[in-house]
Amino acid sequence: MKPPHQAVWPQPNLPALPPLLPGTAEVVEEFARVIYGHTPPGGELTTLELTAREDGVLDGAADRLHHHAVINCPLGDLELDTLTHLPPGASAQHPVPVVVVLNFSGNDETIDGQQAHRWPYAKVMAAGYAVLTVDYRQIEPDDPNPSAPGVRSLFLTDPESWGAVAAWAWGLSRCLDIAARIPGIDPAGAIALGHSRLGKAALWAGLQDERFAVTVSNDSGCCGASLFRHPGGEDIAAITERFPHWFVPSFAKYAGKENELPVDQHQLLAGLAPRRVYVASAEDDAWADPLGEYLAVVAAAPAFADDGIGYHVRPGGHDLLEEDWLLALAFAQR
Ligand code: GCU
Repeated sequence: MKPPHQAVWPQPNLPALPPLLPGTAEVVEEFARVIYGHTPPGGELTTLELTAREDGVLDGAADRLHHHAVINCPLGDLELDTLTHLPPGASAQHPVPVVVVLNFSGNDETIDGQQAHRWPYAKVMAAGYAVLTVDYRQIEPDDPNPSAPGVRSLFLTDPESWGAVAAWAWGLSRCLDIAARIPGIDPAGAIALGHSRLGKAALWAGLQDERFAVTVSNDSGCCGASLFRHPGGEDIAAITERFPHWFVPSFAKYAGKENELPVDQHQLLAGLAPRRVYVASAEDDAWADPLGEYLAVVAAAPAFADDGIGYHVRPGGHDLLEEDWLLALAFAQR
């Protein structure tokens, strides 16, 4: 792995960054107002049924559990099907911490589909963590004109008052509710981890849910870990044009006006203090602006105690690799 970028803010010819905000509550309020929307209270895990269990999978590296969960929301129930891998030997007497991660294309794809390389389960088990995942589309469809409604339609608030990223973040917290009910998992020390658009969701979830001890953003880019005021890669015009459903509609008015945005993403990272956050970038992932992510980490660092915030940039492109997992978990365990 190459050493991190060496650049620091201020950058020549770039505007000053907005100052760090006083505390987590202020960060949540500002970023809810400007970008992600306000997450309504509610959503209670009622039924959790173990639907299948296979012990000793992956050559004995893990026990695999499938659950069906019912989350009671004000206007109806949301049903989630989760996949959990536990290190063998994890038990109610000897529970392990959990990494909660949404997946893009179905739980089974994380085991032997095209996405399997993103899920180095055996290595994560060996590091002493359980992993719980659910298909993000079960929480909220990723579509500006979805054919089926998601969780945002199950609350009394206007569905547009929170975007899909906020809905996925809400889902990460419900996954932690589920994990906390599984014998063998210790919810203390939980990690919220996400790649790309789900890295944006992990940051928003980690900020709002203090049960997440560590938040890990992988290649989350624009509206994730990278600075709006550092040009490069995706900008507000591009993201709000292609993904209007991700954020509150009023965010689009800042297209082309990055410098007028009341916030920037170093403030969001800093809002996670005194809990811990790790940002992972990839050198060839220009669309996510790895340098903009690094500069956000540098600008957020004063909010943290030693080793409260970490970063790596690895060779290669936009992906979640074993190397990203293991470096993030090594940071979590420091
Ligand atoms: C697109 C989008 C990014 C997002 C990425 C992903 O590239 O522009 O903002 O992070 O998809 O989720 O893979």
